[in-house]
Amino acid sequence: MPAARISLDLVGITKVYPSAVALNRVSLGIRGGEVVGLIGENGAGKSTLMKVLGGAIAPDEGEIVIDGQSAASLTPAGALARGIAFVHQELNPFSNLDVAGNVLLGRELRSRPFGFIDHAAMADRVLPLLHMLGARFQPSTPASELSLADQQLMEIAKALSTNVRLLILDEPTSSLTLSETQRLLNVVRRLRADGVAILFITHRLAEVEEVADRVVGLRDGRQAGELHSGEINRDAMVRLMIGRDVQQFYMAPKVTEGPVVLRTRGLRTGAHPGARVDLEVRSGEILGLAGLVGAGRTELARAIFGIDPVQSGQVEMNGEPVASGSVSASIAAGICLVPEDRKSEGLFLDFSLAENVVMPNLAAIATAGFVDRRAEMEIADQSRRRLSIRAPRLDRAVSELSGGNQQKVVLAKWLGLDPKLIILDEPTRGIDVGAKAEVYRLMRDLAEGGAAVLMISSDMEEVIGVSTRVAVMRRGAIAGILTRADLSEEAILSLAVG
Ligand SMILES: Nc1ncnc2c1ncn2[C@@H]1O[C@H](COP(=O)(O)OP(=O)(O)OP(=O)(O)O)[C@@H](O)[C@H]1O
Ligand SMILES: [Mg+2]
Repeated sequence: MPAARISLDLVGITKVYPSAVALNRVSLGIRGGEVVGLIGENGAGKSTLMKVLGGAIAPDEGEIVIDGQSAASLTPAGALARGIAFVHQELNPFSNLDVAGNVLLGRELRSRPFGFIDHAAMADRVLPLLHMLGARFQPSTPASELSLADQQLMEIAKALSTNVRLLILDEPTSSLTLSETQRLLNVVRRLRADGVAILFITHRLAEVEEVADRVVGLRDGRQAGELHSGEINRDAMVRLMIGRDVQQFYMAPKVTEGPVVLRTRGLRTGAHPGARVDLEVRSGEILGLAGLVGAGRTELARAIFGIDPVQSGQVEMNGEPVASGSVSASIAAGICLVPEDRKSEGLFLDFSLAENVVMPNLAAIATAGFVDRRAEMEIADQSRRRLSIRAPRLDRAVSELSGGNQQKVVLAKWLGLDPKLIILDEPTRGIDVGAKAEVYRLMRDLAEGGAAVLMISSDMEEVIGVSTRVAVMRRGAIAGILTRADLSEEAILSLAVG
């Protein structure tokens, strides 16, 4: 039986952290059957607002009115009991459990009469949800084996497995490709038709344009205004978020045929041992690497950088072979990798922004084993300005930054190294429009300065907008390479799907 439609109002919500006012008297209402897009720059307060709704944090002021009942704050259990389900921006799967165990965590199905966990019944409950989302993994797949995109789908399945009346999605598509995103948007439409309210947070404005009935903008922790259907377009949303237009968004580097910097010869990775990759990236170019999730792009990047051992084949930099399976050899050869998963690979969350930024470059600012703190602060401050990282203090733990600002710290960390080849894996994941333009400018500067840039991206607009050439991967192999003149969404997709 469908539950009654939710009626929810946040009134004058304020949340103050020691170093920042995250929310400043924000009011927002939502009713069952509508999709509200919540947009704002990195650090604007979106995730904080959602955590208030999910009961993860208590606001300092304001009230939450659900179905006419007012409360000063919610608990996670209270939120769940009222039908509020939440997909967090930061994924925290239990890697010792399988998918079904994660999806039904705390609500495990048990067999009678002994009360053992009934794995078969749990799998039966979870499988239809995975089908609906187009997931290619099973209820019995260990969570530790899921890619970031699959983790995201698992979290969405988890939210859908509850008796949901308000679904909150915080950057649900940041790791998803086109087809998975479309499926998710269809699920959102179906839930809306069933009377569910959906709060949708994303930096991919095209998605907001596609599904939102109403858009609410946050700026510096304040409600900056609303857009109603008919007014929802990219330019209006950008103005709502940052108060001005962003022009010259995409710009590919000037095409100069530089020498080949990176060459892979017959490279085979563990993920796709049947496929060989022969790829060249030239000085001065941004080579986009497109493909569906699971096509093997991240694995290729990790193999080139020496994180994962290769099955066979060779990586060459400027004609010289690089010892395989060695990160230090790759760094010595001038390669750097900006990883996709900032939490597990890119950042030390308990360390400060400044410490994270200078970490790859410690040798340059340390004498006799002591780090020059002043130099560290200067470098960090430069990065903060260059990437407009919204951080009140450089010496505070990175875990206090918003998701998008954490991503910028990962970028800053590697951009300082002056690499010969820089591999960026989903560099703008979760980054707002203004900062995206900044990241593209930095990539272009690196390329025009002679570096070779290899950019993995699932954002079609971005791949087409900034790449000099695009290599499309399918099942671990390069399915084709498109030059700038041939670039189109259809051309990329047809190579990706085969
Ligand atoms: N645990 C925390 N401790 C201290 N400050 C925090 C904490 N969490 C968030 N903040 C601060 O609150 C502000 C709002 O952060 P929030 O995560 O809500 O931003 P956001 O809009 O979700 O950004 P993004 O688009 O990057 O995800 C930021 O200034 C952030 O640094
Ligand atoms: Mg956030």
